[in-house]
Amino acid sequence: MPQAPIIYLDAASTTPCSDEVLTDMHEFGQIAFGNPSSSHLLGRLAKSAIIESTSTLAALLGCRPNEIIFTSGATESNNIVVLGSVKSGQASNIVICPIDHKSTLAAAEELERRNIEVRRMRVNTCGRVDIDHLASLLDEHTALISISYVNSEIGTFQNLKDIKKILKQRTHILFHVDAAQALGKIPLNIKSLGVDCLSLSAHKIGGPKGIGALYVSQHAISRLNALTFGGGQSPLRSGTLPTQLIAGFGAAARLIQRQNHRESWNAACQRRSTILEIFNAHKISYLINTPKYKSVPHILNISIPGIRAETLISHLGKVCISSGSACNAHDLRPSHVIMGIGHDSDRAASSIRLSFTSDMDIDQIRNGVEIICRTVSTLRQLIHRGNNHD
Ligand SMILES: Cc1ncc(COP(=O)(O)O)c(C=O)c1O
Repeated sequence: MPQAPIIYLDAASTTPCSDEVLTDMHEFGQIAFGNPSSSHLLGRLAKSAIIESTSTLAALLGCRPNEIIFTSGATESNNIVVLGSVKSGQASNIVICPIDHKSTLAAAEELERRNIEVRRMRVNTCGRVDIDHLASLLDEHTALISISYVNSEIGTFQNLKDIKKILKQRTHILFHVDAAQALGKIPLNIKSLGVDCLSLSAHKIGGPKGIGALYVSQHAISRLNALTFGGGQSPLRSGTLPTQLIAGFGAAARLIQRQNHRESWNAACQRRSTILEIFNAHKISYLINTPKYKSVPHILNISIPGIRAETLISHLGKVCISSGSACNAHDLRPSHVIMGIGHDSDRAASSIRLSFTSDMDIDQIRNGVEIICRTVSTLRQLIHRGNNHD
């Protein structure tokens, strides 16, 4: 009997590496494997991969190559900015968004333990920041505003232009955007975004895990403190550069560069609508946590009342979806994002996230969602029978 394929609906968590990415990684992992800091031939070849990936990313973002720092991922990029933005001995505060990724939130909590004040923006039920409230949090001691462009759990995107406007007269504040979920979904141009720092992750766009980048504008670099010390291979960061991962990131970024943004956005919209049509056809009752507007179409978060997300996921066999962010998978507390936009713990505990790339086969999506709907119906019957036996 043919084996049922695995249906992967968790692209916001991570994506597979494409063949082009693997080919480049193989070359710089096995053939041109030198240390990019070495001056011999293999070192120079390795360095050429770093130069090429750097210029691809710089072209993608519209910034200078010397403003890109490779990191181990968006987690590290976020940590460098949050922890590095506060100078010791100075009275400062930073402002964060409470529904952001844990790598920002936990770094901010570490600052609180060091007696730095952390102020939290207010968000509405769509996950959008209240700009007037944000403005009211800022003062002459504010060192940083940090916010995710696209929320990883519900897909809401923020109006960065409005945030930039309130920073116009406050040039002492660093503006950091975590764009891990935006890269490949929304065009990112540093000049029009007007950010000082921007975090990226390769494995969200078909690149390898364990590599990311931090854009830091030339004028902002001196305002951040390094967290690691050593050979000084990069500004703010030491350590031998992982050439094969950087080559893989560069290859994935080239693929993003080639994509037609409008077409891939429309394709993702079509996939999101298909998912909801199937839920409706099966008469599954659900509550949508992803706002209809101001969200990327590649992420759909819904709550299925009465069915715990973890129970559903454990009954889905070869269909992969997530509850909240995979990075908190070991943390069974209800999602801080769903609670953070004002819903109760039941709604948060029953929230699932379906996420996909815009080129994912639509029939596979259909098959996966059919399985989800049938599993929900089965679980409902089991719960109903259990209740009747009580
Ligand atoms: C918005 C956001 N920021 C940061 C991260 C962490 O990225 P990485 O896995 O590259 O450390 C993620 C990953 O889920 C994310 O979605």
